[in-house]
This record gives sequence, C-alpha cells and structure tokens, in this order.
Amino acid sequence: MDWLVAMLRAAGDPTRLRLLLLLRQAELTVSELIEIIGQSQPRVSRHLKLLCSAGLIARFKEGSWVFYRATDEGKGAALGAALADLLPGPPEADLKRLAAVREKRAAEAAAYFKANASEWGRIRSLHAPEREVEEAILRHLTAAPIEQLLDAGTGTGRMLELLAPHAKRAVGIDTSPEMLAIARDRLLRGTLPNCQVRLGDTYRLPFDAGGAAGGFDVVLFHQVLHYLDDPAAAVAEGARVLKRGGRLLIADFAPHSLEFLRDDYAHRRLGFSDREVQGWFAQAGLKLTAAEAIAPHTDSKEQLIVQIWLGQSPAATLGVAA
Ligand SMILES: C[S@@+](CC[C@H](N)C(=O)[O-])C[C@H]1O[C@@H](n2cnc3c(N)ncnc32)[C@H](O)[C@@H]1O
Repeated sequence: MDWLVAMLRAAGDPTRLRLLLLLRQAELTVSELIEIIGQSQPRVSRHLKLLCSAGLIARFKEGSWVFYRATDEGKGAALGAALADLLPGPPEADLKRLAAVREKRAAEAAAYFKANASEWGRIRSLHAPEREVEEAILRHLTAAPIEQLLDAGTGTGRMLELLAPHAKRAVGIDTSPEMLAIARDRLLRGTLPNCQVRLGDTYRLPFDAGGAAGGFDVVLFHQVLHYLDDPAAAVAEGARVLKRGGRLLIADFAPHSLEFLRDDYAHRRLGFSDREVQGWFAQAGLKLTAAEAIAPHTDSKEQLIVQIWLGQSPAATLGVAA
C-alpha cells in the first residue's frame, strides 16, 4: 500500500497533476514544460523529480536534451490513466500552450524542409547507406503482395518510386508542399500512374480506419519519425488505417549521439531503441515480426546505424466470422 500512498502524494499537487496530464499527451523537454506551465525552471524541475521518483513519469536523456513522458507500463501507468479518467484533460490554457509549442516546433521542421526540398536527395544519402536500406525495405515488403501502400511523410517521393512496381496503388502524404512538388515531378518523370501524393498530416491521416473491410496493406515511415514530437501517436495513426494482417514498416536510426543533426538537420530524436519501438507497436496493437540493423559503410564519417522494424496487425482468426 505504501507505493500507492507515495504515488498519490506525488500526484496530489495542482502543478504536478497538470504536468502528469500534459505528459500523457506528449513527450516534452523541461524547457517546453516551463513554457507551458509558466513556472520557473527550479520549480518545474522539482515537480518533475517528484513525479519521476514516484514512477508516474519517466525521464530519458538523449544527447544534450532530456525528455519526459508519462509512464506507459506498470502501476504508474495505471494510476496515471485512472487520474486522467477522472478529469476532462489538462486545463484549457495548458492545452493551448501545448498546441503553440508543438506548432512552433513543427514550423521549425517545416521551414527546414521548405529550404532544403531541392537538396533532400543529397541530404538523405549523407547519413545512411541508402542502397542497402532500400534493398532491405524491398526484401521485407515484397515478401507479400501489396494492394494499397501508404508512404507517411513521403517527402520527395523516393519510397513511392522504389515500391511502385510492387504495389497496385501507392499514396504518399506529407505536410510540406515544397517536398510534394518535387515528389509530383518525380512521379510524372518516372511515369508512375499507380502513385499519387497529397498534402496531409501523419497524425491525422485523411483515410478511414482499416480493418476487415479495407485499409492499407502497408504503411511505411522512412526517415520520418525522428522529426516528430510524438512518434508513438504517428505509429498508432498508421496502424489505424491498416487492413487486417497489414504491415507497418519503420526505417529510422538506431540510438546515436550526433547532436549536430538537431542543430543542422532539424532532427528532434537521436534514434530509437528496439524497446521503444516495441512499446509503440504494442500500444498500436501491432506485433513485431522482423527487425534488422543496417551497418554504415566502413568509410562513413558518421557511424549511423539504420534500423528496420516491421510490425503486423492481427490477421483474421480462422473460423471466426469477420
Ligand atoms: C526526412 S524527410 C523523409 C522523406 C522520405 N520519407 C524519404 O525518406 O525520402 C521527412 C519528411 O517528413 C515530413 N513530415 C514531417 N512531419 C510530418 C507530419 N506531421 N505529417 C506528414 N509529414 C511530415 C517532412 O515534411 C519531410 O518531407
């Protein structure tokens, strides 16, 4: 019982409750939380420390940034969920400031892609062994037929071009009109009539939920999630539009410490661990079916490992009516 008393004590303060509710909505840094809560850094840090010690939130350091998020498993997660059930959500003013923080961040990334759209092909190959990654993606995805493919955060459409011969229909969505303009040009030049791109946000995909009656066979996130403030939500949204037995593939970096990728290339996260991705998959109802690490070239200055994770939504159970 002592553990529960300790947790309730930690949560039993208006600022800490606000922090807990906010961190159930997004993974945030201390400076972002200070901006939202409007209190001094020492006060916010003290509250965060108490919530961490009680197991209600988790802290993780990545390079020079420290992120906080609500605990997503165990007793801390159960109590957080119970408290959130009793309340309508974070106070309206906190939600507004959270939205402003997210918009500011998304605008910074959008400005980066606007400025670098024409250079993206070159930039992409700077940090990853492209040919090997593309071979691995093809190997994993073409093992089964693809009727409908969604490339989330398609950018300049390279993944559509790669996978077009293997899919009946492929759609790319992206929030950057500048990246999409180049993708459209690529589709026209390559004569790829089964592909199309649209402006759209990966957090709110402009498609109905998938399932037994329809949806995408494949959803792909290629080098997208490390730009997002809530990759778990993007993965859950991708899983929402999968058909039964559909597959979701993530190609992104394994954990690294190249801090300059934040400053010079607009990255938010410095790669992802297997454990973190498995947690997103579990929350989204996906089963991890394959994982593969692709080593950098031996002459590569930056030793970045690209990781592929493949998840699958549950297939129809034999003998059970759909
Ligand atoms: C690094 S690029 C990768 C593009 C492409 N997948 C590739 O590998 O060439 C990341 C892309 O994600 C897009 N993006 C960022 N946030 C997004 C969001 N919330 N919804 C859709 N696209 C987003 C950016 O505009 C950018 O084009």
